[in-house]
Amino acid sequence: MTDNTARRLQADLPDLQSYWMPFTGNRNFKKHPRLISRASGVHCWTHDGHKLLDSIAGLWCCNAGHCHPKIVEAIQKQAAVLDYATAFQMGHPAIFELANKVADLAPDGMDYVFFVNSGSEAVDTALKMAIGYHRLRGEGTRTRLIGRERGYHGVGFGGMSVGGMSPNRKMFGVMLPGVDHISHTHNLEHNAYTKGQPQWGAHLADDLERLVALHDASNIAAVIVEPIAGSTGVVLPPKGYLQRLREICDRHGILLIFDEVICAFGRVGDSFAASRFGVTPDLITTAKGLTSGTVPMGAVIAKKEIYDTFMTGPEGAIEFFHGYTYSGHPLAAAAGNATMDVYREEGLFERARSLEPYLEDGLHSLKGEPYVVDIRNIGLIGAVELQPIEGKPTARAMQLFSHCFDKGVIVRTTGDTAAFSPPLIIEKQHIDQIIDTVRAALRAI
Ligand SMILES: Cc1ncc(COP(=O)(O)O)c(C=O)c1O
Repeated sequence: MTDNTARRLQADLPDLQSYWMPFTGNRNFKKHPRLISRASGVHCWTHDGHKLLDSIAGLWCCNAGHCHPKIVEAIQKQAAVLDYATAFQMGHPAIFELANKVADLAPDGMDYVFFVNSGSEAVDTALKMAIGYHRLRGEGTRTRLIGRERGYHGVGFGGMSVGGMSPNRKMFGVMLPGVDHISHTHNLEHNAYTKGQPQWGAHLADDLERLVALHDASNIAAVIVEPIAGSTGVVLPPKGYLQRLREICDRHGILLIFDEVICAFGRVGDSFAASRFGVTPDLITTAKGLTSGTVPMGAVIAKKEIYDTFMTGPEGAIEFFHGYTYSGHPLAAAAGNATMDVYREEGLFERARSLEPYLEDGLHSLKGEPYVVDIRNIGLIGAVELQPIEGKPTARAMQLFSHCFDKGVIVRTTGDTAAFSPPLIIEKQHIDQIIDTVRAALRAI
């Protein structure tokens, strides 16, 4: 019997050998496995029965809570009726219904929805839409793409290239050509412990003018930013920053893309961050909360003008040579439709907004606890940034993660920041449990 088999039998684990896990320390995980085998509402259970409060909604996705009965039922029913239908030159009813529901929630004028399977695919799709749009309008030189330092736009070559998180880029050498980045907005000196949007930093949007001066607007297709950056450790847009980006883009004919993979569908107490901040981009990328994390699905939401620009050429010809075998998959469509219904029927976006002050107070009560250097929050999003251990970046946050996990709370860490994005069905007592557990962990690690 191998050591692995012995351990497996002891803990009733599957053989962990063959699975190459994503964004995971594989060797460490396989020595200390954390397998989630069941979930319901705001809780998950490990394979050996340890109950966990999920403070991160899976991975910013299970906004309606885990295994919501209505969503589960819709997926089950759909699987028995239509398992698959190609999205190319054909369709099925549920996906048209979902497109209408999403367009209804989107900011005015953003009426068209293109379905994909993930946030990464949504980003690559939006970048291609932007370049294609300019070409169709006779401005084919506009191919350059601008991202932002510290941005995260998934792991496709497009998203990685416009992204600005160095660990995600450094192993892969040359990225897409013709990409540049504006500076990020994270600044502890000016903005530490801000509740909601920071006052300082709108002027950082002017960095786009620097790149316009360098490359000339006639070469730039689009700028992509996360209205609220998540993966880099939750960075909120300074007041006026997104408005200023919008103005600069308008002045130079550059498309503005908001990557709302994490902030759409109630996370910020509104349907989209665009609506909450009152800034309408040209394209929105989204995923995650679209199906409450139940079936993989992403989408790009486009302004009418962009869709109309593509709807030219001979009728009957394909207008956009892009799509995926599983674009608008029936199970994802069923999940999406049920999810949109649950959000509306249960008033979950409003619920998130009403719980915002409670989460804010709880998080900011951690000011002064060991290692805490900043606390940030908006909607049902929060972050506690920690002083890194010298020479060992991320280690402190991992200690926090392990401690909280043992005490029954899943906390997501990125860099040395702990991020919180609980299901929108969370109750005050759960928020208390998260804060108490984090406080005790900070005192113990
Ligand atoms: C802003 C943003 N864009 C894109 C992605 C990639 O999404 P996915 O992992 O579904 O490809 C993420 C994932 O967290 C994200 O936060």
